[in-house]
Amino acid sequence: MTQTLLLLPGDGIGPEVIAEARRVAEIVAPDLAFQTGLVGGASIDANGEPLTVETLVMAKSSDAVLLGAVGGAKWVDVERNLRPEMGLLQLRKGMDVFANLRPAFCFPALVDASTLKREHVEGLDIMIVRELTSGVYFGEPRGIERGIGEKSFGFETSRYTAGEIERVTRVAFDIARGRQGRVCSTEKSNVMESGLFWRETVTALHAEEGIGVELSHMYADACAMELVRAPTQFDTILAGNLFGDILSDAAAMLTGSIGMLPSASLGKEGTPGLYEPVHGSAPDIAGQGRANPCATILSLEMALRWSLGRPEVADRVFSAVGKALENGARTADLGGSLSTSQMTDAIVAEL
Ligand code: IPM
Ligand code: MG
Repeated sequence: MTQTLLLLPGDGIGPEVIAEARRVAEIVAPDLAFQTGLVGGASIDANGEPLTVETLVMAKSSDAVLLGAVGGAKWVDVERNLRPEMGLLQLRKGMDVFANLRPAFCFPALVDASTLKREHVEGLDIMIVRELTSGVYFGEPRGIERGIGEKSFGFETSRYTAGEIERVTRVAFDIARGRQGRVCSTEKSNVMESGLFWRETVTALHAEEGIGVELSHMYADACAMELVRAPTQFDTILAGNLFGDILSDAAAMLTGSIGMLPSASLGKEGTPGLYEPVHGSAPDIAGQGRANPCATILSLEMALRWSLGRPEVADRVFSAVGKALENGARTADLGGSLSTSQMTDAIVAEL
């Protein structure tokens, strides 16, 4: 049966990097069928909302979704529920992709591109597993109470059910088993009830199902510090939605450029995954052909591996990116001068 890859280019540099990933996909997986849809600002402009039911239905009936980026200055004054970012959150929630995998891998050729010294990032290979569809991002009630002067307030709810914690922890355990077998779970159990419950739940699940996995715990703030002090100590980091968001940005910079980092968001077995570069829409360089396509091409690589059942093809893409970098191919974010399509040419030449 033909597999379908839904492309959602989105905004800013999104369309530029998605076009390059599509070129690579057409070479390594010529039998794939492509569909294209709108998300974020592009969807607001066309349909008045950042994610339409039609796009969500297309996403859920595809085999994998590859998304570029959402957001931009044009839509900052749009009502909150209609902001481009909401389209992304609704897509994650609608597809129920609760486990977000964010690898922070330092390609040997880029060891000197990091702001950290070579000795700290050489051999860096971390996988952050971030819970993606719950926690403070989605907890109710939330809101802003205005009009009561000094007592006006804004608030949200940080809530995690046992089931939500367990299902993402299981993914972290599975991922770790395919790596070094070490999971470091992060939260703020010293100040947050939801953090204490997170730690208890992860610990209990580990006792029941954690064979082959070494579990440790760290407060999220300490983890942020350790990520820049001695990052190679980590194998797999498990985090809730908000802390995972922050820790993954910190980890991204260890690898040289956020333009290198892919992500995979997975749901229940047999449901399509959502793949996106970790970088944003980068409005400052949009339309100039300067964006680094690697994060999106590596997101395609993750889609081939985790949703499309083609690990050998994924390996080929991964090593082609590594070889292109070894041969000196660099976009501006990595200190080079290649354009987006020239960088892809360099990767394609290695395939
Ligand atoms: C990310 C981004 C998103 C998030 C934004 C764009 C909603 O920062 O994917 O890390 O906070 O999850
Ligand atoms: Mg983020």
